[in-house]
Amino acid sequence: MPAIAVVGSKGGVGKTTLALNFAAGLGQRGEVHLLDADPQRSAFQWSLIDDGREGLPVMAESDHVGETVRALRREHDHLVVDCPPAVNAPQTLEALAHADVAVVPVLPSPMDLWATVHIVETLAEARKENPRLRALLVINQLESRTVLSRLARMAVEELELEVAQSAIRRRAIYRNSALEGRTIYGMGKRGEAAVQEMNALIEEVIGP
Ligand SMILES: Nc1ncnc2c1ncn2[C@@H]1O[C@H](COP(=O)(O)OP(=O)(O)O)[C@@H](O)[C@H]1O
Ligand SMILES: [Mg+2]
Repeated sequence: MPAIAVVGSKGGVGKTTLALNFAAGLGQRGEVHLLDADPQRSAFQWSLIDDGREGLPVMAESDHVGETVRALRREHDHLVVDCPPAVNAPQTLEALAHADVAVVPVLPSPMDLWATVHIVETLAEARKENPRLRALLVINQLESRTVLSRLARMAVEELELEVAQSAIRRRAIYRNSALEGRTIYGMGKRGEAAVQEMNALIEEVIGP
């Protein structure tokens, strides 16, 4: 079953936000498990906010990520792995060695895009052992469509990386839902627009 690794070279780009909400969206289609492979454990901390918890199973494991991914992907329909903010961290490398898709959130600026050059190298290295690994940049905190098309062109031309057509917009609901121990899927009407974009991204990543 598909294992999706959410990776990036620094903090604050939206890896955990994307991992949680992407996993919650997959949870609407089947059974899903989220592996928090970041020693900072923010996804796991989120899952401990009891009030309003949506029942998304989150496991924290940053010492034996490779083994854990192998075991969990056998047991569950979908697996999402939230990685630490470094592409060369052992957790990231182990996740990439076993994932089907690497999803790379990037903030909507050229500087952030160029900073992903190390990810390109790491992906190439990971493919030696895991040739089926697909990679997709996801522009996060987008505020204008024009920016998306420009960045997508730059990413393809300069980094030879595919960019998801479904970007994630900057929306307060991503922060507010997390504060309540929820995802955008647990916010009713207030989360509708965010849910729509997340579902579009999920479809792009794993198919209809
Ligand atoms: N699309 C978005 N719109 C608004 N806020 C966002 C969005 N994505 C992430 N954030 C916020 O940005 C901050 C960093 O996100 P986080 O997922 O923790 O990044 P990372 O895991 O890469 O360090 C958090 O406060 C989060 O709520
Ligand atoms: Mg994080």
